[in-house]
Amino acid sequence: APPHGDKSAEVKEEAAAAVSSVDNRPISTILFIVEALPLVKKFQLTEDLNSVFPKGVPWVRFYGNYKGLTVNIVCPGKDPALGVDGVGTVSASLVTYASVQALKPDLIINAGTAGGFGAKGASIGDVFISSEVAFHDRRIPIPVFDIYGVGSRKAFATPNLLKELNLKVGKLSTGDSLDMSPMDEASIIANDATIKDMEGAAVAYVADLLKVPAIFVKAVTDIVDGDKPTPEEFLENLVAVTAALDQTATQVVDYISGKCLVEL
Ligand code: ADE
Repeated sequence: APPHGDKSAEVKEEAAAAVSSVDNRPISTILFIVEALPLVKKFQLTEDLNSVFPKGVPWVRFYGNYKGLTVNIVCPGKDPALGVDGVGTVSASLVTYASVQALKPDLIINAGTAGGFGAKGASIGDVFISSEVAFHDRRIPIPVFDIYGVGSRKAFATPNLLKELNLKVGKLSTGDSLDMSPMDEASIIANDATIKDMEGAAVAYVADLLKVPAIFVKAVTDIVDGDKPTPEEFLENLVAVTAALDQTATQVVDYISGKCLVEL
């Protein structure tokens, strides 16, 4: 304890205590939650064949050491019945929960694709960091349940990382559909979103429950308020945009390496 009367030491000690103990230690374990796997090759990770997940689930984990960090990349894998990637909020929340329980990460990075709103400044190939995430397809018009449904949460703030990497910043709105119904559109506008995806707010919900800081790195594959049909535009740009996301994800991890949470 500080000597009596040493006010400044006392204040400093309180400030340090307010930051959880991991915040001023270098980040050691990070967990990427991704929709699909192309991110993996950059970090030279290996697949976990003795899965930390329940037997039989399609969830996939790659892990390894990259620049002093334990990097995990987890994705829902292929739907067992249909063989397509397990996109959407249900599988995203399950893999996030199971991964945090098993891996105890210091930081979650939800990386993936998103639709962008041209009117809000999004272009194909932009990579955004989301300041806030919320749902646009959970409409419950009863007092307080309405706010619960929207489920708005702030991302972990990374002002220095944003400055260093010169990334765009915008709010992210999440729903379980690739298309956008008129009611979804009204909610997305109410959420003041620049981009829309199918996982972010679900990952944020679990991260908040388990008290793990989370950031959202989203690359724009299609312009929602443009004139091309979303499925075609998405598939047309997917390969090129994945490369952009991959590059930004690497820059983000390079920046994180050797730093504490409070330095991001
Ligand atoms: N991922 C990529 N494009 C998307 C869109 N338009 N809506 C939801 N998720 C997306």
